[in-house]
Amino acid sequence: MSIPTRVKLVEVGPRDGLQNEKQAVPAAVKIELVHRLQAAGLKEIEVTSFVSPKWVPQMADNAEVMAGITRLPGVRYSVLTPNLQGFEAARLTKPDEIVVFASASEAFSQKNINCSIAESIERFAPVVDAARAAGIYVRGAMSCTVGCPYEGEIAPARVSYLAGLMRSIGVQHVGVADTIGVGTPLKMQRAMEATLRHFDLDDVSGHFHDTYGQALANTLICLQMGVWQFDASVAGLGGCPYAKGATGNVASEDVVYLLHGMGIETGIDLDKLIDAGQFISDFLGRPTNSRAGKALFNKRPV
Ligand code: HMG
Ligand code: MG
Repeated sequence: MSIPTRVKLVEVGPRDGLQNEKQAVPAAVKIELVHRLQAAGLKEIEVTSFVSPKWVPQMADNAEVMAGITRLPGVRYSVLTPNLQGFEAARLTKPDEIVVFASASEAFSQKNINCSIAESIERFAPVVDAARAAGIYVRGAMSCTVGCPYEGEIAPARVSYLAGLMRSIGVQHVGVADTIGVGTPLKMQRAMEATLRHFDLDDVSGHFHDTYGQALANTLICLQMGVWQFDASVAGLGGCPYAKGATGNVASEDVVYLLHGMGIETGIDLDKLIDAGQFISDFLGRPTNSRAGKALFNKRPV
C-alpha cells in the first residue's frame, strides 16, 4: 500500500477539544473558532455534541452554536448524537453528518454513555436508520481501540467485534480512536487492521489523542497502510471527561506540518490554522499544545 497523496483532516477541536474545558466558553467564541477553521481550509468540522448537558455541560449550547455558524459551501459540519433524543435535537440544526460513539471496552462504555456495548448498539440502530432516512451521513467513533483507562490493553479482536456491530447497523464510516493516547504504532496498526475486516480503506479514519506523544507516529503508520482520513484538534485541545488523565487530540497544526512535509496535500493553510489555534489558546489563557504551531508562531516577525 502506498502513502496517500491527499489527506482529509476532520477538525474536532470545537467538540472533542472543548468538551472537557472547565471554564465556560461562550457560544460566540466557539462560532468564531469554527469560522477561523473553515477560513483555514478545513472541509469537515465536528462542531458540537447533542449529549446530556448534565453529563457534559460545555456542550449545552449545541443548538446555538450550530445556528450561529455561517456555513461555507463544500464544508461538512458534524455533531455527536448518543441516542434518539440527541438525534432529534441535532436534526433540527441540519448537520451534514452525525456521529454515534461506542467503545471497544465494556467499562468505558458504562462510564461514557451509561450502558453496555450491546445496549449502545441497540440504542444507535434507530438513530442510524433515522439519519440515513433523512439523508444524513453516519460516522461511528470507536473508543479505546488499543487501551482503556479501566480495563488496560484492548485486544484487536474486540475492535473487530465492535466494527462488525457498527457495520451491521448501517454505520457508513468508523473512526479508530486511541482515547487515552497509549497506543504505539504496531498496536495501532493491528486495531486498524481489525477495523478493515469490516470497513473499506476509504471508510476508516484515525483519531489519536496524544497523551503519550505517540499520535504522529501512529498517524504515520496508518498513512503507510493507505489510511487518508484523520481527526485532529487545533492547538491540541481536549480530552474526554470520562477518560481521566487523557489529554487532547493530536494537534491539527502538527499533523498538517507532518503531511505537508511529506508532500501530502491537505488543502489547509497552515498559517491560518496557527492563527485559529492562537485565537482559542488566547481565549483559554494558556499556550498552544501544538509543537509546530508554537515553533512557527515564534518565528513570525514581530
Ligand atoms: P443517561 O443518564 O443514562 O440517560 O445518560 P437517560 O436516557 O436515562 O436520561 C436521563 C436524563 O438525560 C433525562 O433528563 C434525559 O432527558 C436526558 P431528566 O429527565 O433527568 O431531566 N438526556 C438527554 N439530554 C440531552 N440530550 C440527550 C439526552 N439523552 C438523555 N441526547 C447519555 C445517557 C448517553 C445521554 C449520557 O451518558 C451522555 O450524555 N453521555 C455523553 C458522554 C460524552 O459526551 N462523552 C464525550 C464524547 S465521546 C468522546 O469524546 C470519545 C471520542 O472523541 C472518540 C475517542 O476519543 O475515543 C468520540
Ligand atoms: Mg476523542
